[in-house]
Amino acid sequence: MDHEAFDYEQVDAQGRLRHLLKLRGLDASVILDLLTRAQGYIRPIGHAPARDDCLAGRTVANLFFEASTRTRASFELAAKRMSADVLNLDVNMSSRIKGESILDTIYTLQAMQADIFVVRDASAGIPELIATKVEPHISVLNAGESDISHPTQGLLDLLTIRQHKSTFDGLAVTIIGDIAHSRVARSLTEGLRIVGDSEVRLVAPSGLEPDPDDYPGAIITDDIDEAIAGSDVLVTLRIQRERIKEKSSLMTSHEYLKRYGLTEARLARARPDAIVMHPGPMNRDVEIASSVADGPQSVITQQVSNGLAVRMAILAAVSAGFDRA
Ligand code: CP
Repeated sequence: MDHEAFDYEQVDAQGRLRHLLKLRGLDASVILDLLTRAQGYIRPIGHAPARDDCLAGRTVANLFFEASTRTRASFELAAKRMSADVLNLDVNMSSRIKGESILDTIYTLQAMQADIFVVRDASAGIPELIATKVEPHISVLNAGESDISHPTQGLLDLLTIRQHKSTFDGLAVTIIGDIAHSRVARSLTEGLRIVGDSEVRLVAPSGLEPDPDDYPGAIITDDIDEAIAGSDVLVTLRIQRERIKEKSSLMTSHEYLKRYGLTEARLARARPDAIVMHPGPMNRDVEIASSVADGPQSVITQQVSNGLAVRMAILAAVSAGFDRA
């Protein structure tokens, strides 16, 4: 079997979103269009969810080779609410554990007429690799790639910021925690750079600092109190223990909360209308005090609702390109 290698530009020749592999490289207009589409899919809790038939007769394959609650559940619900057939591959019962490669898994599902692959994997480069190999009408959506990229999270974070701040210019956005291993921090920062002109402050404990080359223009510090002062947006991150080999150097939960946790006292240093975000999953009373996570400035559950709307918007956008078959 000879599988041709295809171009994997994120936007096709007609300017339509084909793949979503990373936010870097996308035009602001593409990102803002996705946010506007997503806003149109938002309904209040307790009301009937938005629906759209644009994926009727199409198949979405969710391939999560790393754990997920929010991303996986929201992609599944988004696809179902758009009338797609949805395949959630049970990776622990799949032939990958017998040694089948990711590409052979993809070719197998492509032969069953999967149209969209939603992929989360612990290895860097997997979404791009798949995107070079699938047929022209197929889309690949990155649902979390190692510590590299989480573009749908970046979009839902941007949408949440826009809902509260109505601008992406002139904000102080402070991201606190394990920046070194955070695909969330990278994608949000990439997105902010594309759509506006805000100051990004990265607070990282010793040993968890990012490579400054990955964050041009950002302030990198370990002084959490100074960074929080005057912030408009605070994003807290958990320590990605699964990506850290030498765990003995990590602080205890109690020590971490004291030194780097977002407590009520620290939050009081931010602007009074600052919002508190967390991508989840949260470790309460470690990187964020429970009272802050549940407090009046927290928009964490709104981020989850926005995640579903953003994933519907992405599915709708790529569905316009099925005529490339
Ligand atoms: N934020 C996020 O990616 O959460 P999950 O790991 O639960 O999908």
